[in-house]
Amino acid sequence: MAINLKGRNLVSLKDFSTEEIWQVLKTAEALKLGYYRNDQPKLLADKTLAMIFQKPSLRTRVSFEAGMTRLGGHAIYLAPADIKLGARETTEDIAIVLSRYADIIMARVFGHDIVVDLAKYATVPVINGLSDQEHPCQVLADLFTIYEKKNRLAGLNFVYIGDGNNMAHSLMYGAARVGMNCTACTPKGYQPLPEVVEEAQGMGRLTGAGIKLETDPLTAARDADVIYTDVWASMGQEAEAEKRKKDFAPYQVNAKLMSVADRQAIIMHCLPAHYGDEIDYETSRTPNSVIFDEAENRLHAQNALMVLLAG
Ligand code: CP
Ligand code: NVA
Repeated sequence: MAINLKGRNLVSLKDFSTEEIWQVLKTAEALKLGYYRNDQPKLLADKTLAMIFQKPSLRTRVSFEAGMTRLGGHAIYLAPADIKLGARETTEDIAIVLSRYADIIMARVFGHDIVVDLAKYATVPVINGLSDQEHPCQVLADLFTIYEKKNRLAGLNFVYIGDGNNMAHSLMYGAARVGMNCTACTPKGYQPLPEVVEEAQGMGRLTGAGIKLETDPLTAARDADVIYTDVWASMGQEAEAEKRKKDFAPYQVNAKLMSVADRQAIIMHCLPAHYGDEIDYETSRTPNSVIFDEAENRLHAQNALMVLLAG
């Protein structure tokens, strides 16, 4: 049966089945071809995307906005001070009102419950553009990037090194759905949420993906096909940055760590990067690093997502 995502939300990556994720990746592949041939049809002509931001952004804001332009639509940036989500009016009222003007709502928020509420009350698709708990759009772009580089996803060994944060959660769900083995290697005390690990393991049992936790980076990285990292202190955790620098010191992605991974292993980072902390600059610039292709693919993966949800 054909996959139809029209009208759906993307709050958590676990909301999408294996087939639905592949539908996004295959659509992204086609749209990227059209983008480079300069003959991409205006699949979202006259559509409006409302973008709510409680946190800063480079990639998410610009890729969604540029993507909307390319697809013939329009994006509206709502800065934290514009709508003062939670202070000026309720999430419920914002969702209802925005649904009267816009065809899609994208939101980058602190509490995951805010994007859950937006999706509950909006009558148009709601996309999570990062919450404290998840970053599903990034992982769609990441899966697309891995697929482009490795020609497959199922059976690969994906290793995440760093904080058990929003990235780790969405990556575990994404890997589990596509049958990619995933090891999340974090210091003790910084593990991903146990309920996310359990759910991802359950999903992985259906696709053959082994989902595990590890605390030793050199053990985790052995024979990896993909090494992925992210900042040690996420947006909103700035006060903990100094303590985290100490706790995470052995978890840097560098030449020593890469020496135990597969020789063809690709290096990924959602960016922004703190060079010298979670990854050293030299490693980020080796031929194995795909961090800027990954950033570009935000555009193509999200274009696919928006076309499928609202085209
Ligand atoms: N990776 C990512 O979401 O980047 P921004 O925070 O710049 O949007
Ligand atoms: N974990 C990071 C991801 C940034 C894209 C953060 O939430 O700040």
